[in-house]
Amino acid sequence: MAKSRPYVPSEPTLGWEQLRATARPLTEYPFSADAVTWTHLGRGALHLAARVLGLEGREVLVPAYHHGVEVDALLSAGAHPAFYPVGTRWTLDLEELERRIGPRTRGLVMTHFAGFPGPATQLRALADRHGLVLLEDCAQALLSVDGE
Ligand SMILES: Cc1ncc(COP(=O)(O)O)c(C=O)c1O
Repeated sequence: MAKSRPYVPSEPTLGWEQLRATARPLTEYPFSADAVTWTHLGRGALHLAARVLGLEGREVLVPAYHHGVEVDALLSAGAHPAFYPVGTRWTLDLEELERRIGPRTRGLVMTHFAGFPGPATQLRALADRHGLVLLEDCAQALLSVDGE
């Protein structure tokens, strides 16, 4: 491992204003929901969800178009990511996705790319039909809504 040297960051880092955050800083859903677990980063939330939902040692289907850290988070939770294709306009081929569900598959990650709503209703039904845990990654869609 390379020897680390001290450095001066060029951007401002955390100060007292950020560290003194109130317990419930936002009033909008989902932050206002009763059952909320706060994590520092989205990847931490995915990691925690994978562990809490028992995905260790199980296959989890992930969109092949992804940020990257989602996969790291799943791997470090002991899950086995496998990928399903995403179209050039962030569309999903649901039949193709369903074909990729195998006997070892236990989880399914869906992402709302750039805030555009993904087919949540269809994926909920698909996950229920196959007994899969559905992980909805809203890292790019916070505070957005689909219709009502
Ligand atoms: C789809 C998706 N999931 C997860 C993450 C991870 O978020 P964080 O950087 O807060 O860990 C990102 C980050 O941009 C993302 O785009």
